[in-house]
Amino acid sequence: MAFMALLEIVHYPDPVLLTVGRPVAAGEFDAELERLAEDMFETMSAAGGVGLAAPQVGVSRRLFVMDTPNADGSHERHAIVNPEIIRVEGEQTGDEGCLSFPGLFQVVKREMRVIIGGNDVRGERIELDLEGLAARCALHETDHCDGIVFLDRMSALKRELAKRKIKRLQKTGKWG
Ligand code: NI
Repeated sequence: MAFMALLEIVHYPDPVLLTVGRPVAAGEFDAELERLAEDMFETMSAAGGVGLAAPQVGVSRRLFVMDTPNADGSHERHAIVNPEIIRVEGEQTGDEGCLSFPGLFQVVKREMRVIIGGNDVRGERIELDLEGLAARCALHETDHCDGIVFLDRMSALKRELAKRKIKRLQKTGKWG
């Protein structure tokens, strides 16, 4: 078993978070990519998150990991490379956080169900049908791959309040 490493999580407004990630090409599904995904799982879990995208560890690639609990105790634990939203359905409104926005939680409206396609780290085609928290997470992380952060998904009023709170946290050194 390979040794895993904790990666440094970058915080908003680091430019990498606002940059569209580069797709992983056919020849790039290698040990290095698998290692990156393993390290991202480790980093996410250590930080207490349920999702983490490559741009959040300073890697501008289209890749994310997620691990959300289902009601039956099973988990949606996936590494998704080159994610694409195939279909969405319904709506959910709830609190959302992001490891690149430490201490900030805001209400964000998302679709309730998503069918997402992509590849696993070995390059095999995958397609997942996710609901609730898993759907919210997959949509949030796919946004990261597109250089979109959850601030962009808030209402204008909530976004202004969030930006003010970020400024306060930055001033007191609690943002990093
Ligand atoms: Ni995030």
